Amino acid sequence: MPGRAIRLAFVAVTAALVAGSAFAQPAAQVPAAKVDAAAIEHQPAGEWLSYGRTYSEQRFSPLDQINTANVKQLGVAWDFRTYTVRGLEGTPLVANGVMYVTGSWSKLWALDAKTGKELWSYDPKVPGSWGRYACCDVVNRGVALWRGAVYLGTLDGRLVKLDAKTGKLLWSVNTIDRSRPYTITGAPRVVDGLVVIGNGGAEYNTRGYVSAYDARTGKKVWRFYVVPGDPKKPQANPALTAALKTWNTGGKYKWWQIGGGGAPWNAMAFDPKLGLLYVGTGNGDPWNRDIRSPGGGDNLYLSSILALQVKTGKLAWYYQTTPGDTWDFDSTADIILADLKIGGKLRHVLMQAPKNGFFYVLDRETGKLLSAKPFAVVNWAKGIDLKTGRPIENPDARYKDKMAVVMPRQAGAHNWQPMSFDPQTGLVYIPSEDGSAVFVGQNDKSFVYRPRAWNLGVDFAAVSQAILDGIKAGHPPPPNLGYVKAWDPVAQKEVWHQPMGGAWNGGLLSTAGGLVFGGGADGLFSAYDAKTGAILWSIDLKTGILAPPVSYSVDGVQYIALLAGWGGAGGLADPRDPNSAVSKYQTNQGRLFVFKLGGAQQVAALAPEGVPPAEPPPLSADAATLEKGFVKYSQTCAVCHGFYAQSDDVIPDLRLAPAPVWDQYDDIVLKGAMADGGMASFKDVLSKADVAAIRAYVLEQAHLAWDGAHPKK
Ligand code: HEC
Repeated sequence: MPGRAIRLAFVAVTAALVAGSAFAQPAAQVPAAKVDAAAIEHQPAGEWLSYGRTYSEQRFSPLDQINTANVKQLGVAWDFRTYTVRGLEGTPLVANGVMYVTGSWSKLWALDAKTGKELWSYDPKVPGSWGRYACCDVVNRGVALWRGAVYLGTLDGRLVKLDAKTGKLLWSVNTIDRSRPYTITGAPRVVDGLVVIGNGGAEYNTRGYVSAYDARTGKKVWRFYVVPGDPKKPQANPALTAALKTWNTGGKYKWWQIGGGGAPWNAMAFDPKLGLLYVGTGNGDPWNRDIRSPGGGDNLYLSSILALQVKTGKLAWYYQTTPGDTWDFDSTADIILADLKIGGKLRHVLMQAPKNGFFYVLDRETGKLLSAKPFAVVNWAKGIDLKTGRPIENPDARYKDKMAVVMPRQAGAHNWQPMSFDPQTGLVYIPSEDGSAVFVGQNDKSFVYRPRAWNLGVDFAAVSQAILDGIKAGHPPPPNLGYVKAWDPVAQKEVWHQPMGGAWNGGLLSTAGGLVFGGGADGLFSAYDAKTGAILWSIDLKTGILAPPVSYSVDGVQYIALLAGWGGAGGLADPRDPNSAVSKYQTNQGRLFVFKLGGAQQVAALAPEGVPPAEPPPLSADAATLEKGFVKYSQTCAVCHGFYAQSDDVIPDLRLAPAPVWDQYDDIVLKGAMADGGMASFKDVLSKADVAAIRAYVLEQAHLAWDGAHPKK
């Protein structure tokens, strides 16, 4: 007996030693140079190395320092201004205390994840004119890390590789046909040494595809087109030959000339054991099936989940969530892989909650549909037939060349804003929406194909008119409503929901601290109890939120990071309702916020860009003086202070000058009062009257900016 006791004690002591040493060492971190498949799949708790964290894209952080008991103490540790006013959708990646975060126009910053100090930045200089091809704002959702490099897709279709330490450009490849309006807004993933990237553009005239490039050299390894090409020519692979049978060619316009669509612009996940890469594909182009495939057809592989052999890009299986899509129902919402116990059996599943409003659970090895149930208000289909895997469609929803009111709307019951799976609760948290859309379809006669413009086969003027007529007749469209929903993927039912301030809200994160984090259109960023949905903490970030939060740790401190900047599809298209919570802020200046326990509990609003801090002094100048001021300003001041008196703030924007400056123009411009700061005297080229005219012109511009931001009631 004593022998046994001693042995037990010995075991206990060794266990304590092992545990002790594990705690004594700082949490393991993975520097960017060491990021590979093993690191991404088995990453230390404090890292966030790939878009959805691991290849299964669960967006669950194992960190629990911030938890249900102490989350009330959460506050801002630091913030970082992006100096952008367009939508921010990025997922920051964090490796060994360095954060890589992207913003509007595909700009990228590397920051010290503890302090927010900028280490380097990269601006791919996307031509502003390309913005016209971005259906849903000039956004970017993030980068990929792999073996010391950062991979970024740019809005104008380039894939670039940068040194993770310095930001130096290592290579850049063009991924698109530049005569077509393709865009990249999604984050690349690196799997098996291949950088995989898709593209957007299915509102215009594009044929979607996903490509894989050698991460080392940038050489293209494979490409998978989502829809078939010219049926008279041989197709690129047997999968596309098979798909041909699901398309009709009868109409005036041919899908292979006007696009076809299927843009795989967002969702990807990877199962390293199966070697399968899962890709979500987009809507049909044009939206209206009657125009691209008259008389019907499933139109493979639109609105589908594709399983591709990662080494070759060959199609292993597919599941089409919306056969014959005609409603802009992309299947590009994020895809989550998990192992769930269903009917007493452990199943390796794939989950997606696409725009069409149904929550799908598939066997990820075979693509077999295991279950599907609506998670939002849906009227286009009564349900999904589990035997055939097909929706039981409501025939009234296919508008053809008539009108139909369809739920969900085009923005989707769930769009790209990522959902999150918490293995502790077994629940999926979905940023979801109940909404409706009016479609008024065109036909071959009324539809006019316009290259590089929106080509939907839907008459938006008639849609707008129908809505206005409805309002006049006392039937305004019902409001679109946003929720955070906790969904049980095994039982296929809602467990709890919380309403959000707007309809178009941010992505979600779940953590081992028993929390779900997410922000909304109204600028509120909140922590929910993962089990009950109770709101445990909230902060007002003073601008609308779209992006998903992430969590990481540096030196034993857990942080939550989130971009705030309003825009995206919902942000651009929704008319501003002056009474809504979304519109309470004039400004939409992009910021990254990083939170920790004990941080600041309040965030100050930033002054709006290009708007004077106070109402400018009164203006009394005649048209001739203003004209003279404009000419003199343009000749003498614009090179530094910006054309039209609008500067990008490197040199002061004169419209925003503090009040006293308006009385000091002569001192500054003629007497050189600010010469030491780089503002020399211009008395050799300007008279006192010239300066007065310039001041009047600048003041006029200041008033315009002020009035724009403070409309008279
Ligand atoms: C070569 C570049 C350059 C040119 C050209 C120039 N400025 Fe400036 N200006 C500056 C710089 C730099 C400052 C900031 C000086 C400082 O902060 O000390 C400045 C500051 C000012 C300010 C003070 C603004 C504030 O908010 O404090 C005024 C007013 C001004 N400039 C007017 C003019 C006018 C009017 C002209 C054309 C006649 C002009 N400047 C041309 C570089 C320039």
